[in-house]
This record gives sequence, C-alpha cells and structure tokens, in this order.
Amino acid sequence: MRFEGMEVGFDIPALPGMDAADVVTPCLIVDLDALERNIRKLGDYVRENGMRLRVHGKMHKSVDVAKLQIEIGGARGVCCQKVSEAEAFARGGIPDILVSNEVRNPVMIDRLAALPKLGPSVSVCVDELANVVELSAAAERHGTELGVLVEVDCGGGRCGVETPGAAVEIARAVVDAGGLRFEGVQAYQGAMQHLETWEARREKLEAAIAITRGVVDALTAAGLPPDVVTGGGTGSYPFETQSGLYTELQCGSYAFMDADYGRIRGANGERIDAGEWENALFVLSAVMSHVKPHQAVVDAGLKVMTFESGLPLVFGRDDVSYRGASDEHGVVDDPGGVLKVGDRLRLVPGHCDPTCNLHDWYVGLRGGKVECVWPVSARGKAW
Ligand SMILES: Cc1ncc(COP(=O)(O)O)c(C=O)c1O
Repeated sequence: MRFEGMEVGFDIPALPGMDAADVVTPCLIVDLDALERNIRKLGDYVRENGMRLRVHGKMHKSVDVAKLQIEIGGARGVCCQKVSEAEAFARGGIPDILVSNEVRNPVMIDRLAALPKLGPSVSVCVDELANVVELSAAAERHGTELGVLVEVDCGGGRCGVETPGAAVEIARAVVDAGGLRFEGVQAYQGAMQHLETWEARREKLEAAIAITRGVVDALTAAGLPPDVVTGGGTGSYPFETQSGLYTELQCGSYAFMDADYGRIRGANGERIDAGEWENALFVLSAVMSHVKPHQAVVDAGLKVMTFESGLPLVFGRDDVSYRGASDEHGVVDDPGGVLKVGDRLRLVPGHCDPTCNLHDWYVGLRGGKVECVWPVSARGKAW
C-alpha cells in the first residue's frame, strides 16, 4: 500500500522511505544533495580562510539542519535572533549559541541567563549600558555565564552603538560585571545583503568595515581587544573575510537559497543561484485546477510562502510562471497549456526565512525518495 503508515490523524506530509511522488502537497521539501553541497562549500571556504562560522539558525529554525552544518560544514554553533529560538537549539544539543540581537524583556533575560544550564555556551549582543546590568544580575542569579558582544551599527541603521566611545564604555562594564564574559564585537550590515551588484555591496561593506575598524581600534587602545568580530551574510561574506578584521561569519540563507537572493550577482557577474549556491529548498505544490486553457491553479499560496521579497520562481522551468497568490491558491501562467491536474511544481520561495516559519516539517528528498522528515524545531518561536 502506497500510503502505509499515513493513517488518518497522522499529521505529517510524508514518511521516510516514501516515493517523492507521494509526498502530500503543499509542503517544504529539501534537496538533501544540494543542501549538503552548499553546507560543505561554505565550510571549506571558512576553513581555507581561517575564519570561524556560527551559521544563522533564524533562517531554517531546524536543529537537524544546524547539526549538519556543524558535522559537515565546519560551524561551531548557531546564531539566532530570539531567546525562544535559542531555547529550541539548546534543547536540541547545539553546543554554541549566539543570540545575535538585543534582549530587553525581563522574562526573556531571565530565560537567556538560565540557558547555559542546558549545556551550551550562550552569548548575546548588547548596545546599551543598562542592558549590561540586567544581564549580569540574571546570570548571577542563575549562577551561569553569558558571553557578550557589543553590537555596532555599521550602516544597517538598526540596533547597535554609534560611536567607538560607547562600545568601549559597554565593553568595560561587561568586563567589570559578574556573570558576563566579554567576547568582542558584532557588526552585521543587513541592509546591503540583497543589493544586486557585487560593486554596490562591496561599497556598503567597505563603509561598514571602516566603522567596525574604528570600534576595534578603540577597544584595543583601551586594553579590551575583542576576541571575536562577527557578522556577514550570504550577500557579503567575501568582504568580511577579506577585511582582515572579522574573525567569524554568520551566513544563513546560503544553505537553502531563495528567489530574492538568487538574483543578486557574484564577483563574476552571475546570479548567485547559478553556481555559487544551489537551490535546496522548495515549496512542493501540485496543480489542482486547469479549467482555463492558459492558466493552472496550484495548491500553494500565501499560507505556505511569504511574498514580501517577490513571487516564487518555478524551479527548472521557463515555460510556466507563478503569477499571483491568494490564501490557498497560486495562479500559474501556462501559455502552452502544458500542465495538467496533479502535476507537481517546485517553487523557490521569494524569502526563505519567513517561509520556513510557516511550516512544521521539512521533507528531505534524495534519489526520488523521502530520506527524512525534520521538524521546523523553532517554528513560531518569536519571543
Ligand atoms: C544578525 C544577522 N546575522 C546574519 C544573518 C544571515 O544573513 P543571510 O541569511 O543573509 O546569510 C542575518 C540575517 O538577517 C542577521 O540578522
């Protein structure tokens, strides 16, 4: 029986061993070969360039993917943005977790400070002196130690100190505080990651590096040299690497890729999904209606993908294109009338991070079979 084990109430889209053709749609599928190649590629790059890697787990929110990034991709651990995400990774046994963000809610500060009791080394970003006092009190209460990175606004215009003097003041307070360990500096320039050309991204990163260098020099002059200078994403990591300043990368999207990242250009002028990275993540969808000759309707719309970064691409096909979405439907232009009900399309979502957060499961495929079904461990963990 094809669906053995998928009895009523069995609430997952696939089981290991199933034919890929029987996976229930719509769902998130992962091409495991492509994922592993992406992970190994960045791991090799990081090793060859003497960098460290804390991959960004906010993208996939999956303990299983993070473990693969550690086992075959040279990562020492993960970054995440929220304490609840960090808790999911800690419960899953990830040994090194950086909350690459500020934590100011007293309840979440308390939970963050408790987290090292589960085993991992835990670090967090700070951009205000008052936060040092809050974190220190919580860590002392729990008898734990938190690593602290001073976050620098290096051009993203989000969190982060704006002057070297502020960074020195915070670092000194961290060194003097109980329960805290001064690790260094985080300088992530998020606003430039998706600029299309290599030159436009390089220009922004050069400015970011100059700001960060000013902070590192001031810390060093104050006798507080940072061990770690961390940052970098899929659109910028070569620049941080070549800076001679950064010691650690935080790339996230490289592992799965998405349509918005795919269109940016690498140093050779090519799309980065055309050689640098492979699409490993797809929303698998099926045609559910084709009553109009030049239009198919698929079962994947707003509830399985986000659209703020643009429409999904139909992977591997240029004869059909996804035109628009409503809650549970996607309209696909089919000028040649080539699709029929039941046909499956692999959709590359516009933006992988929030798309993954809409799902409970990743269905891992290899050689036409379901090899694994992984939970999206930190799905919905937004606090
Ligand atoms: C602080 C921080 N570091 C790293 C990343 C990873 O970036 P990417 O997914 O572009 O590789 C992000 C993503 O937004 C981030 O917010």
